[in-house]
Order: sequence, then C-alpha cells, then structure tokens
Amino acid sequence: MATSTRLYGEWAETYDEDFVARSGYVVYRRVVDALLQHREQINGPVFDIGCGTGIVGAVLRDNGVEIVDGIDISQPMLGEAKKKQTVRGDAVFRHLVAADLTQRVDIPDNRYAGLISAGTFTHGHLGPEPLDEIWRVANIGAWCAIGVRTTHYLAAGFGEKLAVDVREGTISEPNLIEVHMYSPGVGDEEHADDKVFIVVCQVLR
Ligand SMILES: C[S@@+](CC[C@H](N)C(=O)[O-])C[C@H]1O[C@@H](n2cnc3c(N)ncnc32)[C@H](O)[C@@H]1O
Repeated sequence: MATSTRLYGEWAETYDEDFVARSGYVVYRRVVDALLQHREQINGPVFDIGCGTGIVGAVLRDNGVEIVDGIDISQPMLGEAKKKQTVRGDAVFRHLVAADLTQRVDIPDNRYAGLISAGTFTHGHLGPEPLDEIWRVANIGAWCAIGVRTTHYLAAGFGEKLAVDVREGTISEPNLIEVHMYSPGVGDEEHADDKVFIVVCQVLR
C-alpha cells in the first residue's frame, strides 16, 4: 500500500475537522468557483477527481450542481464521502468509484459534463500522467477546473503535458488561475504561502 493511501486510511474520519477546518484549507472552494464560472455550459454530471471525504462535491451540490460522482483510491475516504449530505439532507454523491487513477478506470468514455479536482495533483499524489484517462471520461465540451500545487505543476511537467494536449486538439488552451491553498492567518505559518494553479479548460475531443 502506498504511503499516501495508508495516511488517508488513518486520517479519513478526522480529515474535515483536523485538516480542513484547522488549516484554513480553502482551495476546494476556489476550484468550485472556477468551475461554476462556466455553469451555463455544464449540463450533466460532474466528476470529482480524488474526492476524498467529499468536500468539493458538497460545495458543488449546495451551489446547484445536481449530479456529482467521485473517485478516490482510499476506501476510508470514500466511506466519509458516502455519508456527506447537502444542506437539504440528500446524499452529495450519486456514484463513488474506488480506483487508482494511475491505471485505466472502469468508466465509459464521454460521461461527464464537468471535471473538478482539489488537493490531488500534488507532491506524492498524482502527476500529469492520469490526465489522458481523465479527459477520456469527459464529454466533448466538458469544462474542467483542476487544482495543481504550483511547485508540483512546475516540477512534474504539467505545463509540457497540457501543451501537448492543446497541440493535439484534446483540450482548449488552459487558463491558469493562481490561488492560495489556505486562508491567510488561519493555519500553520510554514504553509501560509502555498499556492495552487487551477487549470481551467474545455475538453475538445
Ligand atoms: C488531499 S486529499 C484531497 C481530497 C479532497 N479533494 C479535498 O480537497 O479535500 C487527496 C486525495 O487524493 C486521493 N488519491 C491519491 N492518489 C490517488 C490515486 N492514485 N488514485 C485516486 N485517488 C488518489 C487520496 O486518497 C486523497 O483522498
């Protein structure tokens, strides 16, 4: 079992209180804001990549997105996501898929009208390699808002990978929105300046 899978297995039950609330982790809200800029064009289910305990999905649902599915490698994190409810008391997620995004996943092509991710494209987690598989499950015209830790974006070659995908006509030229990972003044000073690029683009084929 990979270290991060073990970590999330132990952390799942307390992740929302111990990490999200105490650290001022806010980037999950920023990726939702970025995706919902294109809300008029998102007519169908949204896929939450590395959904964890489901905090991205919960904000999407509470902002009017009707169908959200999630995928994650950690069963305990998915267990928490399964319990998540909207403010109206409905389950946040329609389907939750347990799978490793570095492998082919058992999901048909062209399934999603939106792709979203927070906290998953970062050091020790996912590099750019799973992007092909992620584009595959999106509809033509699907909008994406994928958060990538800035230092990881540069070190792992996200720019190069996205440039190839643009050149090949798979995605539109991405807009990179740089945001803070944490709310200022809430968490640990050491991470106060951690930043994320939100990659916003459309899947074209
Ligand atoms: C920091 S958490 C982010 C969870 C959630 N999106 C959030 O913003 O709170 C990263 C998530 O990525 C998942 N993950 C890491 N590697 C993965 C992989 N290879 N396939 C699927 N999920 C993975 C972890 O299990 C974990 O739930």
